[in-house]
Amino acid sequence: MARKVRIAPSLLSADFGRLAEDLAMLEEAGADWLHVDVMDGVFVPNLTFGAKVIETCRKLTKLPLDVHLMVVEPEKYFDAFVKAGAAVLTIHVEAAPHLHRQVMRIKELGAMAGTTLNPSTSLETVREVAADLDLLLVMSVNPGFGGQKFIPASVAKLARARQLLDETRSRALLEIDGGIARETITQCWRAGADTFVAGNAIFGAKDPVAEIRALRALCAERA
Ligand code: DX5
Ligand code: ZN
Repeated sequence: MARKVRIAPSLLSADFGRLAEDLAMLEEAGADWLHVDVMDGVFVPNLTFGAKVIETCRKLTKLPLDVHLMVVEPEKYFDAFVKAGAAVLTIHVEAAPHLHRQVMRIKELGAMAGTTLNPSTSLETVREVAADLDLLLVMSVNPGFGGQKFIPASVAKLARARQLLDETRSRALLEIDGGIARETITQCWRAGADTFVAGNAIFGAKDPVAEIRALRALCAERA
């Protein structure tokens, strides 16, 4: 079965002094989504942005906004973030004791519902809701910062995630986030991922447009 590759550059690594130009460049380069990392300084040891920045991005780009919530009590923000223009809301299972209710609420608001897991969290925590998910995100770094090193065990976890989605007949997209670059993307694609977040690899490249194309090409080689 042919899998569509989605490249989702991470806003975290963009140049906020020239945000409009950076977002235009991503569109021009054929990026599929814009990944937006929301951090609250509690769930993760870093603080980023909220509804205002999501709304700003919504005005500056047509790319669907893939919002990754690294916050405690994520449900507090669902309404405001969907209103601000989020297309996908992904919540951490570690911060969502009522995962089923929260996933349903995101869908009710009209956004795609995603869940994600820290590297140390078992995939079994999402099995019961897998069929209801629009997206499953496997973290390949401990969340909080861009530019970290890819955790190699994430490849096997991705393969198990693919298997779990198949077993539960889930149609969820399978996304990977953290340390994705030319050196790591192919193994993730082969393990079953279809959606790839990349921050440092794209914005740290001399030619970000070429980098996006190169990352995509490394997946397309083996469907
Ligand atoms: C990490 C964030 C990532 C981050 C990825 O907590 O969830 O989305 O921006 O950045 P790179 O690709 O630089 O690892
Ligand atoms: Zn992220």
